[in-house]
Amino acid sequence: MKIAILSDIHEGLNRKRTQSQIMDVLYKWIETNRPDVFMISGDMTAGPDKSLALLNQLQHDFPKTKFLFVHGNHDVYYEDSQAAYEKLLQFPGNLGNGPVELNGDWVIIGDGGWYDYSYQIEGYTEEQFRIGTFNDFTWPDKLYALWPGSDGEETDRYVQKLEKWLHEYRGKNIIMVTHVVPFQKFLQVKNDPSWDFFNAMMGSERFGELALKYGVKKYIFGHIHTRYHEHYNGIEMICNPLGYYPHEWNHQSVEEEIFSTIKVIEI
Ligand SMILES: [Fe+2]
Ligand SMILES: [Fe+2]
Repeated sequence: MKIAILSDIHEGLNRKRTQSQIMDVLYKWIETNRPDVFMISGDMTAGPDKSLALLNQLQHDFPKTKFLFVHGNHDVYYEDSQAAYEKLLQFPGNLGNGPVELNGDWVIIGDGGWYDYSYQIEGYTEEQFRIGTFNDFTWPDKLYALWPGSDGEETDRYVQKLEKWLHEYRGKNIIMVTHVVPFQKFLQVKNDPSWDFFNAMMGSERFGELALKYGVKKYIFGHIHTRYHEHYNGIEMICNPLGYYPHEWNHQSVEEEIFSTIKVIEI
């Protein structure tokens, strides 16, 4: 079974910046490669309606590929992020609806996840991370992702949901997925507080703890726009974002970047 992996497509932003139809190129890749499963691990575009429309269109146009999705922070930019979260569950392949058994041996379990400042740097208060402003830059989620609970409470909701599913499927070969980063090791630390301050908003070590507790075999994430594929703590870790054009891309051409970035694993 071939599983294609990509996150952080940021369709709207990258379409505008590249002046190219990002989705057309993605379509071309899928037509050429025909994976059995396509795992999109968050930040499809900004806002639930647009993300949902793109996902439904993909699934409609490629019925033989099973599209799976966890939301990113940008997908829940909405006046009520809880409502956005629920709206995105209308996509049948949203892992927030529950685990998906891939074949007799493997199950994929995930959800977007959130952050609880467990990756915070020293010298700042909880209140400063809650407000999320450093110098004159405010972390955009603070303005556009409006959850009913605090960041910590929202993270807790995901941890509880994921743990219930992981417990149900313990002993199986599990692929775990979140949008956010599960281990501190994958953060970029620049020793520049104007960058490192925002690592508090990159994820939670609680997701990594769950992965270790339940012995997951593979872990797919995104959010941080740096690509990783390596073993860590006995887990095959895959972070495979498209990221922002141009500074996070290796190529000028959309086709070259998308074709060279999408990762395919076999189970
Ligand atoms: Fe992103
Ligand atoms: Fe993100």
